[in-house]
Amino acid sequence: MSMAGLALPSVDDGLDERVRARLDEVDQRLAAVVASDFGFVTETALHLINAGGKRFRPLLVALAAEFGDPMAPGVVPVAVVLELTHLATLHHDDVMDEATLRRGAPSANVRWNNTVAILTGDYLFAKASDRMVDLGLEAVRIQAQMFARLVEGQIRETLGPSDGQDPLEHYLRVLADKTGSLIATSARLGAKLAGAPAEIERVVTEFGEKVGVAFQLSDDILDIASDSDQSGKTPGTDLREGIPTLPVLLAQRSQEAVDGRLRELLSAPLGEDGRHAEALALLRAHPAMAEARTIVQQWADDARATLAGLPDIPARHALAGLCDLVVSRTG
Ligand code: IPE
Ligand code: IPE
Ligand code: MG
Ligand code: MG
Repeated sequence: MSMAGLALPSVDDGLDERVRARLDEVDQRLAAVVASDFGFVTETALHLINAGGKRFRPLLVALAAEFGDPMAPGVVPVAVVLELTHLATLHHDDVMDEATLRRGAPSANVRWNNTVAILTGDYLFAKASDRMVDLGLEAVRIQAQMFARLVEGQIRETLGPSDGQDPLEHYLRVLADKTGSLIATSARLGAKLAGAPAEIERVVTEFGEKVGVAFQLSDDILDIASDSDQSGKTPGTDLREGIPTLPVLLAQRSQEAVDGRLRELLSAPLGEDGRHAEALALLRAHPAMAEARTIVQQWADDARATLAGLPDIPARHALAGLCDLVVSRTG
């Protein structure tokens, strides 16, 4: 099955067809849910939805739902809620990161301005909450607790490691909180709304947490290694914002000959174009990139290992395929 930016190898025709149908429904509902009588709000909310995106969280909902009744009435609505939540965080994240490009389109903060971007994020989150109400109190609570954890992750990232804290340990905690939380919750709520047994819900949650960290690790590698055509974002945004991600943390520990200049560049803000480009080029050529890819592979392998706790149905193979995809996209 193939969707914008995500080409998941086909494992079963029936599964492909069901998942594709669910994801199409998600897209239709997303557009309907954000429609407002206030036309400007509809426009700002639709801007990022229509720009594309991988729909990774709805995909996980759909795959996890296969372990129960994938046609259960809550499955598509909960996928909509989780994509809306994701969209809300992207709006806020682009303001925080001063990003200019998202999903290959100008981000809302530059298309309009920071105020519009922040309020559109709030609007999307309000719509998510509104849709969540029909899905039961337990789902509402899981979503609320997840969102608090995600926000804590973003705050932790902003604050940086505390005195004496290992920067790599801090970094991985940030990733689990800001990204693992939403991806784990997508798998969990997919299984729950499909009526899957509690043990399955537990296993897919653990899977989602691990594949979510792997996903963010690969995103952080792509921030350095890829160009805008591939990522739909501006390369080196983390670097410019002074957020040390995995390749930087590994390069800072290494003893390579080129490290003197790289360390010098990394020790001061990289807002200036020349210094930023030089640091990006040095990092791209640095052995830390290969080391970082090995760490993504390890997280993906750990995620795949949790799948042993699930029944052997096509969706399990599709989830294993997702692990491969997260690794291969950092190529
Ligand atoms: C971007 O998420 C933010 C991260 C957690 C890395 P995605 O890479 O899923 O973004 P879209 O939805 O495809 O645009
Ligand atoms: C953002 O991480 C994660 C959330 C939005 C919670 P990043 O800052 O790495 O995401 P991108 O690269 O802007 O998509
Ligand atoms: Mg960002
Ligand atoms: Mg990023």
